[in-house]
Amino acid sequence: MITNTEIEKRGNQYPNHIVEFKQENDKLFFTTQNGVILEITILRDSAIRFRYATEHVFEPDFSYAISDDVSLGYNDLDVKDEIPEYVITTSKIKIRVNKSNLKVQIVDLEDKVIIDDELGFHWEENYNYGGNIVKMGKVCHSGESYYGMGDKASHTNLKGKRVNNWATDSYAYGKDQEPLYKSIPFYVGLKEEIAYGVFFDNSFSTYFDFANEKRNVTSFWADGGEMNYYFFYGPKMNQVVEAYTDLTGLPELPPLWALGFHQSKWSYYPEKKVKDIASTFRKLKIPCDAIYLDIDYMEGFRCFTWDNKHFPNPKKMIEELEEDGFKTITMIDPGIKIDRDYWVYQQAMDNGFFCRRADGPHFKGKVWPGECKFPDFTDPEVREWWAGLYKEMIADMGVKGVWNDMNEPAIMEVPSKTANLDVRHDYDGHPCSHRKAHNVYGMQMVRATYEGVKKFMFPRRPFVLTRAAYSGTQRYCATWTGDNVATWEHLWIANVQMQRMCMSGYSFVGSDIGGFAEQPNGELFARWMQLAIFHPFCRVHSSGDHGDQEPWSFGDEITDIVRKYIELRYQLLPYLYTMFYKYINGGLPMLQSLVFYDQADTQTHFRTDEFLFGEQILVCPVQEPNAQGRRMYFPKGKWYNYWTDEVISGGVEKWVSAEIEIIPLFVKEGAMVPKYPVQQYVGEKEIKELQIDVYFKEGIENSEVYEDQQDGYDYKKGRYSLRKFRLRGKENELIIQQFKDGNFITSYEKFILTFHGLPFEIGTIELDNEIVDPKDIKLNGNNTIEVSKDFTELHLVGK
Ligand code: NOJ
Repeated sequence: MITNTEIEKRGNQYPNHIVEFKQENDKLFFTTQNGVILEITILRDSAIRFRYATEHVFEPDFSYAISDDVSLGYNDLDVKDEIPEYVITTSKIKIRVNKSNLKVQIVDLEDKVIIDDELGFHWEENYNYGGNIVKMGKVCHSGESYYGMGDKASHTNLKGKRVNNWATDSYAYGKDQEPLYKSIPFYVGLKEEIAYGVFFDNSFSTYFDFANEKRNVTSFWADGGEMNYYFFYGPKMNQVVEAYTDLTGLPELPPLWALGFHQSKWSYYPEKKVKDIASTFRKLKIPCDAIYLDIDYMEGFRCFTWDNKHFPNPKKMIEELEEDGFKTITMIDPGIKIDRDYWVYQQAMDNGFFCRRADGPHFKGKVWPGECKFPDFTDPEVREWWAGLYKEMIADMGVKGVWNDMNEPAIMEVPSKTANLDVRHDYDGHPCSHRKAHNVYGMQMVRATYEGVKKFMFPRRPFVLTRAAYSGTQRYCATWTGDNVATWEHLWIANVQMQRMCMSGYSFVGSDIGGFAEQPNGELFARWMQLAIFHPFCRVHSSGDHGDQEPWSFGDEITDIVRKYIELRYQLLPYLYTMFYKYINGGLPMLQSLVFYDQADTQTHFRTDEFLFGEQILVCPVQEPNAQGRRMYFPKGKWYNYWTDEVISGGVEKWVSAEIEIIPLFVKEGAMVPKYPVQQYVGEKEIKELQIDVYFKEGIENSEVYEDQQDGYDYKKGRYSLRKFRLRGKENELIIQQFKDGNFITSYEKFILTFHGLPFEIGTIELDNEIVDPKDIKLNGNNTIEVSKDFTELHLVGK
C-alpha cells in the first residue's frame, strides 16, 4: 500500500474513491473524490474503451486512428452497484470497477481474470510542458505472453521487454533497437489460453513495459495526452486482431500487380539505367511488375520535379516501361526545398501551409535538398493541396504508384533526428505541438498522398507505400520496414517484423530484400528471397553505396534460385490475392505466427521462425549460412512437404533438409491451392486454366479462391468470383464441392486438379452426379484431371 506521503514524494498521483456514478446510454462515468473521471464506453460486447480525465475535464475526443466504418452495438449491458465495486456485464465479459480506488478488473463470464489493474491509472504532472504523463499499470500473470506492437525488431513474444513508440529514422538499426519507424501502440496478450488486446490510442511518445522493470507488472504510459485505451476480449487471437482492425480500419484491394515482384535501388538513373534493368529482367525471364525511382529522379531533390538531364522525357520512358509490363513508382518526401523559384515552395508559402515554431517562424530542417520546410499534413487544407500535386505525375506522366519516405519526419544533423518539439500543428482543428503530432505526421502525409494518387489513378487502383506509420495507416497504403542491413540477423529480424506487423493489423508489409545497407552474398540474398516471396509486399531495395542487388548480381546459381522463387510467387498469386481479400474482409492477418495459429499449444508461445502464409501454407526460412537444413516446429494438423509430398503430423519439432535451393515449405492437408501460370508480369498472359493443387485429407477442409478484374472498382459492385471448396476425403473416396459467389466471369473455363497424397487408385469419377469417362476429363496417371470450372461436386472413388 502506498502512503500519501510517498505519493507526494514521487510526484505521482493516484485516483481515490468513487463519489459519483452516471450512465448515458453506452457510456458510464465514475468520478472520484479527487477529480478523476473514468469513462467506460461499451463499443461491443467484447470491445470496451477506457478513458480517464484528471481535474474533471476530458480533452476533445479526436483520433486519427479510428476508422469511420467501426462496427458498434452490443447485446447486453447490465450495471450493478455492489458493495466493493460496480459490476458491468455484457454478453461476453464482466468489468469490475473498485469503488475505493477506481481499479478495474475484467473477467470472462466464468469469472476467470483476463486483465487486472495493478496500480491502474496514475499520472504525474508534466512540469516542462504542462499536462500529465499518464500511466497505466496492469498485473502481469505468470505464463502471460505479449505480441504485436508494430515493427519492433525483437522476439515475437515481448515478455521481458520495454518498447517505445516514437517514429524514428533508424538507419541500419539493430536487433532490439528502440524506437523504430512506426508507432503502433497495440498489443495482444495471452493469458492461460485467453487472448485479449490493448490499444493505447495516444499519439504522444508512448512506452510499454512488458514485465521488464517488474516481473509481475505490465505498464504503459505516454508523455502527454489522455489515458485512453481500448480493450478487446478474444478469447481467440484472431478475434482480438480482427476487433483491433475493425476499429482502426482496413485498406481496399490493391491492384494485383502490386502483389507481384518489385525492384528498387537508391538510385536507378539515368533513364538508360532504368531501361537496362527492366530489359534484363525480361531477357533473363525473371518476373517483375514494378521499378522504383528513388530521390535522384528529381531536380535537386525537389519533390514533384524531374531531372531533365537524366530523364529528358519521363512520360515516354514510363510509357515504354509500361508496354513491357513495368509500372513506375516514384518517391516523394515531406521536406520542401527552400527555393523562391520552386513552385511547390511558392504555393506552400503563399498559402501558409508550412509548419511553424512556437513563436511564429517556420520550422526548418535539413534533408536531401538542403534546408527544407515541412507542410503541416495534419491540416486538412494542406492535405487537399498535397493530394492535388500528384496530378501531373500520375494523370499526365503515367506513374502508377508513390512511396513516401522520410516521413517520421526525418531531419539530418540534429540529435533528435526529427522536428523540434515546439513545432505547431493543426491536428485537424485541435492545435498542438510536435510532441503530440509527431507520430501521426507520416500517416497524415501518406493519407494525403493516397487521396491524390487514388483520385488521379481512377478508375484504376492506387498503390502507395510509406515508411512511417501510426495505428490506422494500413487504411491507406503498404509499408516497408526501413533501412535494414544485409546480415543474417536482419533476415531473422525481417521474419519477425513481418509477423508482428500482421499481428498488429498491418498486413501489407515487406522488408528491403537482401538488406538496404551493406551487401549480401549470394547465399544470404537467395535465402532472403526465399522468405520474402511469402511476404505480402515483395521488393528488393538497397542503397547504392554497396554494389548491385538485382536478382542476377550474384552469379548464375543464385539467379536460377531467385528466378524459381519469384516464379513461385507469381504462381501463387491467386492464393495471395485471396489472402488479401480475407484480410480486407474481416481483418485476418495475411501471415500468422504459430501462436496465432494455435494459441492453446504452449510450444508456440516463444517460436519466432515458423509462420503461416495465409491459412494453409507453413513456411520456415533458413536463417544461417551453410545450412543443409534446420529444425522446425510443426503445429497441429498434418503437413505435406511442398517439395516431396511427405506428410508430417504436427506437435513435433523435426529436422528438415533444405539445401540452398530449398526453403522448408509445407501445405496443410486438405488444402486446395490455386495457381496461375508463371507470367513475366501480371496480365502478361490470359489465364486459360486454373491449376489447383489438392492435398488429400481424411476429413474435411475448406479452401477459397477470390478473383476479380485485378484492378478497378467493379469488385465493389459484385463483379468478383469467390469459389469456396469443401474437400472431404475418406479411405477410398474424395468429394470436392464448389460453392460460388459473385458475378465476375473468369477468363478460364477449366480447372486442372493435381492430387497429392491420394491414398487410392481412381476407379470411378462422378461429376455433378454423372459418371464420366476418364478420357473426358483427361485423367493423367492417378493425379491430374481437367474439370469444368462450373462443377458443383466431384466424387472420386477408388478401385
Ligand atoms: C531512406 C529510405 O529508407 C531508403 O529506402 C531510401 O533509399 C533513402 N532514404 C533515399 O531516398
